Amino acid sequence: MDRDNIFETMLARINRILDGDGTGNDKMERICNLLKNNVPEYDWVGFYLVDKNVPDELVLGPFAGEPTEHKRIKFGQGICGQAASRRESFIVGDVSKEENYLSCSPFVKSEIVVPVFRNGQIIGELDIDSQTPAAFNRNDEKFLRRIGELVAEII
Ligand code: SME
Repeated sequence: MDRDNIFETMLARINRILDGDGTGNDKMERICNLLKNNVPEYDWVGFYLVDKNVPDELVLGPFAGEPTEHKRIKFGQGICGQAASRRESFIVGDVSKEENYLSCSPFVKSEIVVPVFRNGQIIGELDIDSQTPAAFNRNDEKFLRRIGELVAEII
């Protein structure tokens, strides 16, 4: 199956997860596992959520993959924090070339971070790491942005 077909299948399954039972956190965790287990080169999949009490800080939410030491990230720090402060997606083809980067694993080669908005406000991010260089492109961004729109309803 090519990537575009996988994305369609994933979106259908994500809609079923969102319509199903469980808390928002349960659903986000299922979505992370679904993506990690089914989309080639998605090796770590997680949500960072904007802290409701500290508005310029991200807190690690549900994720699938190896645990990370980066449980809180200030806006501006690393790829996640830069995407948050710019309120824009950030695609990095080669993380070794980034100076403002927070490493979770020496195996990670590329990364994409896509903000999640509600009513025009950033409320979180979807962060994907890959052990393959330059794994992500604008189609991934479009796909992840759509997931963000769906998940914004349950965060
Ligand atoms: N690499 C990210 C940190 C989060 S981990 O990838 C899970 C960054 O530079 O913001």
